Amino acid sequence: MDRQRIVVMVSGSGSNLHAVIDACRVGAIGGDVVGVVADRIDAYGLVRADEAGIDTELVTKHADEDRRSYDARLAGAVASFEPDWVVLAGWMRLLTLDFLGHFPDRVVNLHPALPGELPGTQAIERAWAEAQAGERAESGVMVHLVPDEGVDDGPVLGHRVVPIDASGTLETFANAIHDAEHGLLVEVLAQLCTPPADS
Ligand code: GAR
Repeated sequence: MDRQRIVVMVSGSGSNLHAVIDACRVGAIGGDVVGVVADRIDAYGLVRADEAGIDTELVTKHADEDRRSYDARLAGAVASFEPDWVVLAGWMRLLTLDFLGHFPDRVVNLHPALPGELPGTQAIERAWAEAQAGERAESGVMVHLVPDEGVDDGPVLGHRVVPIDASGTLETFANAIHDAEHGLLVEVLAQLCTPPADS
């Protein structure tokens, strides 16, 4: 198996992008981040990519553009990097099949909650609120394939449980979630980019 070509899509800070770039650089992942695509000009992930010498593409949605046209344009930008894997790492926009159809079994999403729980935005804050109400003692993170337009849903590639210390703070809980994400995303990508034992 050749080194795998990874495109990371970001909307914000890009701390998970950073973890993946570092893991590729030290050989923990048998691949390279060959491109970073963002939908927001202020996504700090673009700065991280620039600093790492990785090509970036900013694809913002035009005000008069419908979702499907945008997704088709986005797919073109991602496809130009010829990815083996497309990683949604803090990509905060729902994707239609006009995008996903270009990369079957190749789109991987990271979500800060356990499988089947808390889809959508603000999952960390919602888990914290449930813990404060005595309704939850743990949450977690997951990485899954994105076969269709389901939100934070699809075949699970890995997950980690994160206990919630309700006497702590939202900030310490969020940090624990992000630490778990960085580890899990690298672990899953390392597996995806490793040739099967008999090859
Ligand atoms: C991460 O917590 C990721 O799981 C979440 O956005 C954050 C991005 O952090 N994604 C979702 O909530 C998707 N539904 P980062 O920009 O520092 O990597």
